[in-house]
Amino acid sequence: MAFMKYTLLFHLLFLFGYLSVQAQDKTSFYPGDLWFDTDGYIINAHGGGILYHEGRYYWFGEHKGEKSNAALVGVTCYSSSDLYNWKNEGIALSVSEDPNSPIVKGSTIERPKVIYNARTGKFVMYFHLELKGRGYEAAHVGVAVSDKVTGPYRYIKNGRVNAGIWPLNMTDKQRNTDLKATDFEKWWTPEWMSAIKDGLFVCRDFEGGQMSRDMTLFVDDDNKAYHIYASEDNLTLHIAELTDDYVAYTGRYIRVEPGGHNEASAIFRKEGRYFMITSGCTGWAPNAARLMIADNIMGEWTLYPNPCTGKDAELTFHSQSTYILPVQGKKDTFIFMADRWQPKNPIDGRYIWLPVLFENGLPVLKWFDNWSLSVFQETK
Ligand code: DGJ
Repeated sequence: MAFMKYTLLFHLLFLFGYLSVQAQDKTSFYPGDLWFDTDGYIINAHGGGILYHEGRYYWFGEHKGEKSNAALVGVTCYSSSDLYNWKNEGIALSVSEDPNSPIVKGSTIERPKVIYNARTGKFVMYFHLELKGRGYEAAHVGVAVSDKVTGPYRYIKNGRVNAGIWPLNMTDKQRNTDLKATDFEKWWTPEWMSAIKDGLFVCRDFEGGQMSRDMTLFVDDDNKAYHIYASEDNLTLHIAELTDDYVAYTGRYIRVEPGGHNEASAIFRKEGRYFMITSGCTGWAPNAARLMIADNIMGEWTLYPNPCTGKDAELTFHSQSTYILPVQGKKDTFIFMADRWQPKNPIDGRYIWLPVLFENGLPVLKWFDNWSLSVFQETK
């Protein structure tokens, strides 16, 4: 008995020591390691994005549990002044207990992103929403707003995107096709792919609105904001312009890489050019990242080779992009943020943050076991 008490005490002391070491100030990033918040708990903010507001970074992400990827808690928020040490700010958007709510506990809430609208003074959150019990078929975007950066965010609406509106870059011939999605019994045939590239699924979803799954938001230098999402059954990315208050669409949108099967888009702007890193579509399993570049956000976008180099480059270092963060106060300095998913134990998904380096004007991602922001001076 005395021995058991002693062992328990020993374990408690060990745990306490471990937690207090984890809670100490960090000065480096350790991609793929456990990452603890300032209270010593593991950061739970997957598929996340970061907003910088009045001197602090705010990291919003999916709260994940141990067994399921369903949203049982909501969207979490952490804040930091230095990007290494993160304070838990609680639940920014809570799931609802109301079975009639689209964001009811058990729905799927993925890849939340928050932007600030200076005109309205509101923080606006967009997220990928799948309705409870319907797998990934709804393909909705959800919108929530708050007067305070950390929340609570108030859910305002969900649905598909730009119903009854054609993308800017679909020709009259493509819009007026006689082909229907139901004409094709089999997917992936050359005829089907050619029809997909011509907008077969845009036509299919024209009345009800375009599908919206993996997503990000981007605010440009002129304060115009854009919603970038995997549409058309994940076959084609769309970029849709938002209204000045950021809570609706202007109706201007384009298709990017038709039939290219891109998701997990993350975007940044450097010296007037737009750079987008995406992944292919292999569920929770990693694949090779893709790079696209444009001089205008509404296109044309050009595809470039995988920006990752070195060991495991073809698997994006076993991760999938979620956001590209401009580091404040350092010109043209960006951090690539990705998730190493663990679908069997989602809470154990790890964060892969890497510096975006540049070679010959193109972004390059290399693995670092650990690194700090000083890497940007060293490599410039
Ligand atoms: C990959 C996406 O990027 C994730 O956000 C998630 O939707 C999974 N697919 C589901 O399989």
